[in-house]
Amino acid sequence: MSKIIVAIDGHSSCGKSTMAKALARAVGYIYVDTGAMYRCVTLYALRNRLIEQGRIYEFALLQHIRSGFIKISFQLDPETNLPLACLNGEVVEQEIRGMEVSNNVSPIAALPFVRTFLVAQQQAMGREKGIVMDGRDIATVVFPQAELKVFVTASAEVRAQRRFLELQEKGDTTTTFDEVLRNVQERDYIDSHREVAPLKPAEDSLILDNSNLTREQQNEWLLTQFHQRANQ
Ligand code: DC
Repeated sequence: MSKIIVAIDGHSSCGKSTMAKALARAVGYIYVDTGAMYRCVTLYALRNRLIEQGRIYEFALLQHIRSGFIKISFQLDPETNLPLACLNGEVVEQEIRGMEVSNNVSPIAALPFVRTFLVAQQQAMGREKGIVMDGRDIATVVFPQAELKVFVTASAEVRAQRRFLELQEKGDTTTTFDEVLRNVQERDYIDSHREVAPLKPAEDSLILDNSNLTREQQNEWLLTQFHQRANQ
């Protein structure tokens, strides 16, 4: 069976990373969460005061990128065998999933020079194929040649509910459901309306609305699609 590239795009909090991880584990592929990479740049910008009260100091951020100050990598978690996002060598999984990064990441991801910086790294990661990558522009920009392209979606309420439960499980008792819903809707708007690489399915993407599917059902669906493409 030859190795392929699996590109999974979709709205925020629609469960694409859960299904992408499950597929990668089932077939022994590398999994890359590109949202984590945009989140790392956002965390860097917040920590270095390159974003203050929603204002981005774009020129300064560009200089930091050009000077090689922002290094993003993934380290395998020895227990789960899943990749953990690292910013300049430090594991930052927890920080990049918090509300501060979530509230600031979309405008950072809309900056063309940030996208150029990260897309080049993502393309390099897929050179050998055998990769499952999830994001917003994987099928349209990063790997338009991917053998399997999936666009995942679900209603904003269903996605906010899932994200809300996730935050609660992590011990966040201050964020309300309405805040999460607003964040999901705002991110949808910015992600779909930005000028560079807006969120949209590629012409040949398979569309999956998982509002009414269980995790098992969607994993099974994806595995079936994978075997069809990988055996071609
Ligand atoms: O998937 P996520 O919620 O972790 O993504 C975080 C942000 O990064 C979100 O605003 C969309 C953006 N993003 C992007 O523009 N392109 C990608 N390939 C992945 C994420």
